[in-house]
Amino acid sequence: MVIEPRTRGFICLTAHPKGCEQNVINQINYIQSKGTIEGPKKVLVIGASTGFGLASRITAAFGSNAATIGVFLEKPANRGKTASAGWYNSAAFEKQAQAAGLYAKSINGDAFSKEIKQQTLDLIKADLGQVDLVVYSLASPVRTHPETGVKHRSSLKPIGQSFADKTVDFHTGVVSEVAIEPANEDDIANTVAVMGGEDWEMWMDALQKENLLASGATAVAYSYIGPKLTEPVYRKGTIGRAKDHLEATAFTIADKLKAIDGKAYVSVNKALVTQASSAIPVIPLYISLLYKIMKAENIHEGCIEQMHRLFKDRLYNNKTATDAQGRIRVDDWEMREDVQAQVAELWTKVTTETLPALGDLKGYADDFFNLFGFRIEGVNYEEDLNEVVEIPGLQ
Ligand code: NAD
Ligand code: NA
Repeated sequence: MVIEPRTRGFICLTAHPKGCEQNVINQINYIQSKGTIEGPKKVLVIGASTGFGLASRITAAFGSNAATIGVFLEKPANRGKTASAGWYNSAAFEKQAQAAGLYAKSINGDAFSKEIKQQTLDLIKADLGQVDLVVYSLASPVRTHPETGVKHRSSLKPIGQSFADKTVDFHTGVVSEVAIEPANEDDIANTVAVMGGEDWEMWMDALQKENLLASGATAVAYSYIGPKLTEPVYRKGTIGRAKDHLEATAFTIADKLKAIDGKAYVSVNKALVTQASSAIPVIPLYISLLYKIMKAENIHEGCIEQMHRLFKDRLYNNKTATDAQGRIRVDDWEMREDVQAQVAELWTKVTTETLPALGDLKGYADDFFNLFGFRIEGVNYEEDLNEVVEIPGLQ
């Protein structure tokens, strides 16, 4: 079939297999153009199919020749419906990895569950023996707790007071006011249950208990801070509480990993268009202004550039500089004072009328469609394609 984008709000219901493949190849080419990194050798990536997790997997495999196991939750094609983008990404990644002689296998299922954890442990045991890097890059709106069976739903709400500010519908370019009522205690607890550190710690405990972590192993999970203007809905809202918890969990895990001479970090990454971030109010408008400034300053990065810098200049350069809270910062360019001052200035002026000149809405929209394999250079979108694609290393 000929595959076209079909969007509903901030999701796209279709994905393009050739476009997703080209996306992955472009990321691989970027990493290969940068030379090798004395990095990890055997890597588990939890949340490996899109965004930062996929970029981490590509960096480890094609930057350091690492064997990788990816865990994700994606949909195969079904009855004329396309597969999800992460499915096509993983198929493309594993095809390229195996062609390059690299071990690459994956597990598709709920990473929060005991079953998927056990399946992953068994695969590591059988194939790799141990891993020396665990990347935790899940982003999910829901988590069924493995002990209680309770299904927790995260929310994106301010805490303590309602919030109102500008936001944009990036399909139409209309800038409007959004108002969000404050979270209650349940909203906070549920968001921490989904996006906090409990599941990361469960993964690390299970790996350590079964002696599947190599001596000196590293664990890393991803966080976000962002500017003052998104604080009420992000860092000081429900999701921020979850990130506080995730960051605190890094210390708990680091303590446990001392037994194997291992380390645990949170890396604070920059704001980027991913399936997760396009769902957060206010953030798309902020990102379109940020992109404009960062591109003008020649410091714009996507997921792959970010993860390359994380591996090469932070995790594997033998000095791992962290901030006062022990976090790795690859959001350093986003948070530069001059960049933030310019964004804050644009924020006061931005309206539906001024956005095309002030912001990079086209960059935002292109990145959004790129996530699903659309608007990628060199792809023939007229081509009649089979939407059914196998992931070579799927267990
Ligand atoms: P993403 O949506 O691109 O990736 C999420 C991944 O999690 C996918 O591989 C998906 O398959 C997997 N996943 C979701 N639910 C799952 C489940 N139940 N079982 C197994 N796999 C599941 O998101 P992303 O933006 O790359 O986010 C990854 C991390 O980076 C998150 O912690 C996020 O907060 C953080 N981060 C994001 C940004 C940003 O701007 N996008 C910035 C800084 C930090
Ligand atoms: Na990810």
